[in-house]
Amino acid sequence: MNVKKLSETTVALLADHKGLFAMDESISTCNKRFADAGIPQTEENRRIYRELIIKTSGLNESISGVILYHETIRQRDEKGIPFITIIEDAGIIPGIKVDIGMEDLAGFPGEMITEGLDGLRYRLKEYARMGARFAKWRAAMSIGQEIPSRNCIISNANALARYAALCQECGLVPIVEPEVMMPGSHSSKTCYKVTREVLTTVFDQLYLHNIALEAMILKPNMILPGENSGEKSTIKKIAEDTVKCLMDCVPASVPGITFLSGGQDPQEASARLNAMNQISESKLPWKLTFSFGRALQQTALAIWEGDDSNKVSAQQDIYHRAKCNRAANMGLYND
Ligand code: 13P
Repeated sequence: MNVKKLSETTVALLADHKGLFAMDESISTCNKRFADAGIPQTEENRRIYRELIIKTSGLNESISGVILYHETIRQRDEKGIPFITIIEDAGIIPGIKVDIGMEDLAGFPGEMITEGLDGLRYRLKEYARMGARFAKWRAAMSIGQEIPSRNCIISNANALARYAALCQECGLVPIVEPEVMMPGSHSSKTCYKVTREVLTTVFDQLYLHNIALEAMILKPNMILPGENSGEKSTIKKIAEDTVKCLMDCVPASVPGITFLSGGQDPQEASARLNAMNQISESKLPWKLTFSFGRALQQTALAIWEGDDSNKVSAQQDIYHRAKCNRAANMGLYND
């Protein structure tokens, strides 16, 4: 394992208050979002939409890396130029989602396990040859009656660690994404407790698998009340709880934490990230930044509507949200 080379990628991804752009929705997730926006669900529309994102002028001012999906990493623009080339030419680092999604966890109704370890070493080598320099694997755990179970947490944490070890062996920086999901009626206190258990279990497994912690990135959720809990939490409380939870669980040798947005309103996600960076920049051991999907794309997709005449407005929205989140990394967000 070449830790020095991996660390260089990690440093570049976290440099200059920039963040990551998650545009790695699977075909079915992307189609679902298109369906909700009334956009025809075709491969060509998915290609046009991803081309729109990566060709957003000035994207590299706020974005250090983009996360692609296996369909997207092979795609080309309308002139035949590979997406990877366009991304690299913009000074942005290409990354790739490598899990293959979630399946029901056998014997544990209502719980899911992320799949994709079989043959992963060979897929990683191929992605590295294609130009990817980092990877992502998402484990998602719901909070509900008696869940997540200990087995669900351990099984997902173990898969994350096996994935991370393979990534480091193949020269890709692993983004380790254990997501405690927002849907549900749980309190923010429960979210804190579950996230704490999930993160400590994930780091146990990362130690066990000899992961070079300085050559990885953690992608967690923020500490939020469940979507249907009725609990109102302030920006300050969310920021303080999230920072405290991370301080409890994340070793100082991890260089960066890039949050997922998880269905938060885009402005709220930026404001919460901003508050964390305001209270903490001087005393935290890791960088706190974003790796948002929906919080960067949601409004742009609604503006685009699959209509080329809306392309520039959609790109302006992407540019604006990316810039807002870079400002949030400096504690200067004001939208
Ligand atoms: P969201 O920001 O929409 O949660 O997406 C981030 C991501 O990469 C999920 O795996």
